[in-house]
Amino acid sequence: MQKPHWHVLGAGAIGCLFAQGLHRSGSTTTLVMRRGVTVRSLPVVVEHDGQRCEQHLPVITPDDTAEISHLLITTKAYDVHSAVSGIAKLLSDNCVVLLLVNGLGLAEKLRADYPHLDVFCGTTTEGAYQLSAQHIQHAGRGETRVGRAGQDTPPAWFEGFARATDACVWDSDIDSALWSKLAVNCIINPLTAVSGCRNGELARSSELSAQVEALCSEVADISRAAGFDNIAEKLRPAVSAVIAGTADNRSSMLQDIERGRQTEIDYITGYLLKIAEQHGIQAPKNRSLLERIRNRAP
Ligand code: PAF
Repeated sequence: MQKPHWHVLGAGAIGCLFAQGLHRSGSTTTLVMRRGVTVRSLPVVVEHDGQRCEQHLPVITPDDTAEISHLLITTKAYDVHSAVSGIAKLLSDNCVVLLLVNGLGLAEKLRADYPHLDVFCGTTTEGAYQLSAQHIQHAGRGETRVGRAGQDTPPAWFEGFARATDACVWDSDIDSALWSKLAVNCIINPLTAVSGCRNGELARSSELSAQVEALCSEVADISRAAGFDNIAEKLRPAVSAVIAGTADNRSSMLQDIERGRQTEIDYITGYLLKIAEQHGIQAPKNRSLLERIRNRAP
């Protein structure tokens, strides 16, 4: 099969990492930038293990007339819908859309709003952060899982896409992978954000450890009700492992708050609480964190 032409919407750290990976593995790759960007190409720079790799990638904006057949979305969760509606007229019928975005609830809405799109989901543990615009540090190799509920075998485009990174697998149970990430994020992200601490502090401080415990118990109850018993059973050790493995990191939500940016809380804890409500479960600790993050002083 001829390799598809990928368009990447969201040129943050993960977007740049995948855009460069796709380009280097032989897929034609274009960045979709916001209206008003006038350059026709941009250098994407990835630093890794002291090596610097720079590739010039073509750029389009919503005002262009390109046809998009394969779209990778790596924006912040709250930007997905406005970003997609801005380029909706460029998306071909049956355009493949791969959402590699934090949080849940976005794929359902995309499918409802744009039934002609072929929507897939992914989650990644690749570690990357932005040094400046389109210049990123690839801090740690991770694994990317891609799939669509109910689809056991990968579509033809997946083989080429998977070459963008060292470890990318098709996951026929992607909903569990997404829920598992959501469950861990519901605990680490808001708690570090309101406490202003690095992830490792959640294990060092006895007061924060007690809060982790209480949140895990609520998230486990909701996970069980949503049919993810296995995730519920292993949640506490899974959270401890992520805290230990990312002890020196500032969570993405803490970084958003420190930079005065919008957070993804509505797509993380907000989504969890929506599912809790559907099952008649109260989750007061999660609700209180949601309110504190939503109502924080700017
Ligand atoms: O959002 C993040 O920062 C990460 O997903 C996690 C797991 C909380 C670790 O920092």
